[in-house]
Amino acid sequence: MAGGEQRGERPGGPARVALQKEIGLGSACAIIIGNIIGSGIFISPKGVLEHTGSVGLALIIWVLGGGVAALGSLCYAELGVTIPKSGGDYSYVTEIFGGLAGFLLLWSAVLIMYPTSLAVIALTFSNYVLQPVFPNCIPPYNASRILSMVCLLLLTWVNSSSVRWATRIQDIFTAGKLLALALIITVGFIQIFKGNYEELTPSKAFNFWMTPSVGHLALAFLQGSFAFSGWNFLNYVTEELVDPRRNLPRAIFISIPLVTFVYTFTNIAYFTAMSPQELLSSNAVAVCLATLIIMLVGDTYTLINYVSFINYLCYGVTIIGLIVLRWKKPKIFRPIKVNLLIPVTYLAFWAFLLIFSIYSEPVVCGVGLIIILTGVPVFFLGVYWRNKPKCVNRLTESVTCWGQKLCFVVYPQDGVPEEDEVSAARSQVPASETSLRK
Ligand code: TRP
Repeated sequence: MAGGEQRGERPGGPARVALQKEIGLGSACAIIIGNIIGSGIFISPKGVLEHTGSVGLALIIWVLGGGVAALGSLCYAELGVTIPKSGGDYSYVTEIFGGLAGFLLLWSAVLIMYPTSLAVIALTFSNYVLQPVFPNCIPPYNASRILSMVCLLLLTWVNSSSVRWATRIQDIFTAGKLLALALIITVGFIQIFKGNYEELTPSKAFNFWMTPSVGHLALAFLQGSFAFSGWNFLNYVTEELVDPRRNLPRAIFISIPLVTFVYTFTNIAYFTAMSPQELLSSNAVAVCLATLIIMLVGDTYTLINYVSFINYLCYGVTIIGLIVLRWKKPKIFRPIKVNLLIPVTYLAFWAFLLIFSIYSEPVVCGVGLIIILTGVPVFFLGVYWRNKPKCVNRLTESVTCWGQKLCFVVYPQDGVPEEDEVSAARSQVPASETSLRK
């Protein structure tokens, strides 16, 4: 984020371009919560319920989802302060496993995961905003589409121009989302106090209308984990965090239990208002909305499976990296060092989930893997192949430069950029020039 950059002459050295530490504990929590809570809680309950076959098991999956996200984020906290670079999993995986692994992670994140999840979130948001304008019908698809594009462009612009404004907007929207969910939860509690909790009594809640297989449970978890995805977002901006050693774990300890509480009680509230059959037959908001991609790939739930599978794969590979780093560099300074049981438990769960999701949804997971692997030739052509013809270099240079200008990005550098920064951006623009181009 260039809004946070600062420059200053260092004695006897070149001008330094670095990121300002502007994110405090409050904003750090808002970043985590704001990135986790999106459209998932309005879409995934149906997907989770469908695969679990009972209200009780569905609720257990929601709590478990929060627990697994907490384990994962503790591992990320160790990585975040041990390798204190912005870039999150990309930086860690590149540092531990090398350029290709890092590239593939970023490739799948930038091309598939984030755009797809953002499309779902933006469209859900637009549909809600437009609903009062079209009280008697579903808002026209094009209206939702245009509004979501405007929102995305606006937010992209704010994000690249000012960290302060980006975090402020993030804070406001996080508060708004929490308020809306608090309202749902309050109504749920009122219903419970009125005695409307029939679906939640143990005998009814565990009354299975379908016996779920292990594969079903894996898919239920994949649906739920879409709603929890995004817990790793703070790691992308660790360099901008004030006192990351204290604030990174604190933000995790506050945010993840809060989100788990909110999600579980939102589900409970849904069940006080409708029967599981009604929830299953209801059209979740986002199902009326189909993006071009959704229409091509399948319904929202299939899309969520794609995104969650790829996302989960990336989280697991990064956490394997934590163990590899402990083994390869046991002596480096780790301001936070989690108990080894935490990554091991996470990975055991991860392996189980991936194996059973591949078994239950071989096509979706296979296509997901193929999408990731399409990055291999791109890596070899774009990064590994050093002596490229001049025209190719000129093309990548101009694309990089254009991208830098568009997003107001410069190297966080001190003199000559590091090798991996060069290969990441693939720009041969001299350091002195890059820092001045804007
Ligand atoms: N959790 C978000 C939601 O409920 C979706 C999301 C945010 C996401 N960040 C993500 C999904 C990263 C996949 C990857 O809408």
